[in-house]
Amino acid sequence: RLLIIDFGSQVTQLIARRLRELNVYCEIHPFQNVTDAFLTDFAPRAVILSGGPDSVTRDGSPRAPDAVFTLGVPVLGICYGQQTMMQQLGGMVVGGEGTKEFGRAFVTESAPLDLLEGWFLTDREQVWMSHGDHVSQIAPGFTVYATSPNAPFAVIADQARHFYGVQFHPEVHHTPNGAKLYENFVRIAGFTGDWTMDAYREQAIAAIRAQVGDKRVICALSGGVDSSVTAILLHEAIGEQLTCVFVDHGLLRQGEAEQVVTMFRDHYNLNLIHADEKDLFLGRLEGVSDPETKRKIIGGLFIDVFQKYANDIEGAEFLAQGTLYPDVIESVSFSGGPSVTIKSHHNVGGLPEKMGLKLVEPLRELFKDEVRVLGAELGLPPSFIGRHPFPGPGLAIRCPGEITREKLEILRRADAVFIDQIRRHGLYDDIWQAFVAILPVRTVGVMGDGRTYDFACALRAVTSVDGMTADYYPFTHEFLGETATRIINEVQGINRVTYDITSKPPGTIEWE
Ligand code: XMP
Repeated sequence: RLLIIDFGSQVTQLIARRLRELNVYCEIHPFQNVTDAFLTDFAPRAVILSGGPDSVTRDGSPRAPDAVFTLGVPVLGICYGQQTMMQQLGGMVVGGEGTKEFGRAFVTESAPLDLLEGWFLTDREQVWMSHGDHVSQIAPGFTVYATSPNAPFAVIADQARHFYGVQFHPEVHHTPNGAKLYENFVRIAGFTGDWTMDAYREQAIAAIRAQVGDKRVICALSGGVDSSVTAILLHEAIGEQLTCVFVDHGLLRQGEAEQVVTMFRDHYNLNLIHADEKDLFLGRLEGVSDPETKRKIIGGLFIDVFQKYANDIEGAEFLAQGTLYPDVIESVSFSGGPSVTIKSHHNVGGLPEKMGLKLVEPLRELFKDEVRVLGAELGLPPSFIGRHPFPGPGLAIRCPGEITREKLEILRRADAVFIDQIRRHGLYDDIWQAFVAILPVRTVGVMGDGRTYDFACALRAVTSVDGMTADYYPFTHEFLGETATRIINEVQGINRVTYDITSKPPGTIEWE
């Protein structure tokens, strides 16, 4: 496996992504944690030193452990990683004014290097630079292999020791051919690219069995991709020792509860408790219209309900969670300071301690798209794996103002028509998330010869990579017109349809 030592770059995770795409298993660890003992234990076959925001010219700035350079394995330093490698191996780095370089640059080859094999498609390659300091003198044993107008040491290497340093970021999109450098690096390090999802599945099942033994495990199953894959993987590993609790808070989409129960209980034969607590949740939400209060009520009740059912499961010692790799990576924070809470997210954090349970997190090494691949390996249907994200508080945050059963029913029906339209037009997979929000206003309309006074709704559909930023989806007017007509004709209680064209920021994806 490959070790990525993180110096706090914003894009360190992308390095891991590029390597995973090459079927190479890697882990990111913050530089503070990489001690000599850690290195011996981890026994990496290669090491990558990430970029970072600090300056190696500052006293006390982060360093790679010296042992990295005596392991006898290939090392690739990126940006800050290159600079600290030079500093530590006897070169020199200068900082300050006049040397900053941010954005697109072009490098040209000065001598052939195994790392650059096949990289130069023309006489120059576009790269993305982002650095304040630069190497001014390379360490003994190193040679320059590529330069850019502002970076005389764009690519350097000590071929004998297989130490490489690049000034730019090969992992980002703006270094279009950057994946080639990673491909060469892992080949040089002797990786064969055999880390496949099938291998992962076997490995994860063995690890679950070793961790759990003959004890019982409980799992909160929402029907979302992460919790579903977690449950099925555990079921495959420990069968009857697993019990899943599906909390039905009455805020699910049309037919959703039935689908979850049918699939997991009937198809997968899982021990599934369907906790039908609609009345409890909807009762407690009565008269509540403040978004944060809604979220807190739902989050709190969810924990109570889950705990109530879990307490009845005798001898449970473990709680399974679908935590993913991006949630796990300990980020290297230099800024500190609390960030503003935009929305309090719904999760079951704190539950394991409260209940005295140990955690099983079989997805904690995977990225979201890898979870989907694993789900497919485990036989989950493609329509299920490719589902849009659905928030924990469910339809509550798509129903601004007071939540009533009447509004929820109207919302469910309108949402089902909208999603059906999107599927019929083959747009589902191009869209990150799509849904209807029912607005807390009634408007006047005319249908046939009669006056109507019904709810207005808003359609929301966005494209996004990670949900952090989003753009509204550019439907055609024909699509929007057809959808509005269908909703008004097919859903009693709605007589006006609007399309939300706010991007994020400044809007958020959900309405609350
Ligand atoms: P916002 O509305 O903040 O949503 O732009 C970004 C993404 O997060 C989802 N979301 C949630 N997911 N629990 C969740 O599991 C929550 O409380 C929650 N709130 C928002 C939202 O659907 C979108 O995909």
